[in-house]
Amino acid sequence: MKVTVVGAGGNVGATVAFTLAERDFAKEVVMVDIERKEGDKTFYPSKGRALDQWQTAPISGFDTRLTGTVDYKDTKNSDVCVITAGVPRRPGMSRDDLLEINGNIVKTVTEQLVKYSPDTIIIVVSNPLDVMTYVAHAASNLNPKKVMGMAGILDTARYRAFLAEELNVSPKDIQALLMGGHGDTMVPLPRYTTVSGIPVTQLIDEDKLNTIVERTKGGGGEIVGLMGTSAWYAPGAAAAQMVEAIMLDQNRIFPCAAYCDGEFGIKDLFIGVPVKLGHGGIKEIIEVDLDEGEKELLRASENAVRSTLEDFKKLMDK
Ligand code: NAI
Ligand code: 2OP
Repeated sequence: MKVTVVGAGGNVGATVAFTLAERDFAKEVVMVDIERKEGDKTFYPSKGRALDQWQTAPISGFDTRLTGTVDYKDTKNSDVCVITAGVPRRPGMSRDDLLEINGNIVKTVTEQLVKYSPDTIIIVVSNPLDVMTYVAHAASNLNPKKVMGMAGILDTARYRAFLAEELNVSPKDIQALLMGGHGDTMVPLPRYTTVSGIPVTQLIDEDKLNTIVERTKGGGGEIVGLMGTSAWYAPGAAAAQMVEAIMLDQNRIFPCAAYCDGEFGIKDLFIGVPVKLGHGGIKEIIEVDLDEGEKELLRASENAVRSTLEDFKKLMDK
């Protein structure tokens, strides 16, 4: 089993690769990035990161072979490719500010990946996530079941972590669902949140829950404000969890950006919905019941993603 991570000289990509290596189920993880020139020097961040990570294998005890490259030939016959290439948010930037630059990067990277792995599965991480997943799908020509975006696992992990802290319970016992785009309009769903099966609404008062929902929506921005760049540990772990579910055919149910063709009344759009992940990619979109309020929030989120997609299309037509 072979996984390629593009953008792996950077923070999220390196974390995806390292998390995968430590889980030790893949034969090979290929880390791709561009070279970086500084004066008369050329640096190869993906090669450096791969070498450093591979040298932890004797200490941590894994066999997954990590290699770094700038040449897509080395990615040939990858089962899964993760795209984290692009520019991250800086303070004062929204995810949508990254549209043009990351759109061009994701398009070129995808074309290179499918050239050498025409049957691969692609997981997009680059922002703005839902639109970048659309771009990767368009550039790949793959069946939409094989192209998806990582955001919902991260956003629910933030929500679960905040709830665990507030309730003083193990984060492992909190199950939650969240839908919509990866932005301020994301839709955490308290009705689908439980602590070991107990509805969360029985354990926390409404005001506190609303505060946590709002903090979750701004969870990415909170970290940008603290670090001056966006998060990588939780995003990297989340993308690695998707790779694992696919490669080990785990049939895990996760919120992921998936292609909707009428599900939840949404047509021709990648957006966060609950899916079953296993061999072949997305096996199913699970159409949970939503009440009127939840439908309205999802509709607002759909409109926000569509509007970013339209902006992107206009930029490309220029
Ligand atoms: P970073 O700057 O640390 O890494 C990005 C890497 O992409 C750099 O090493 C850069 O050299 C590389 N790159 C740029 N152009 C490339 C190309 N054409 N081919 C190959 N590699 C290329 O940024 P970080 O923090 O790793 O974030 C990466 C992306 O992930 C950003 O767009 C960020 O907004 C997004 N992100 C998305 C999350 C999500 O939930 N979907 C969460 C966190 C970050
Ligand atoms: C995050 O949510 C910025 O999308 C990135 O951390």
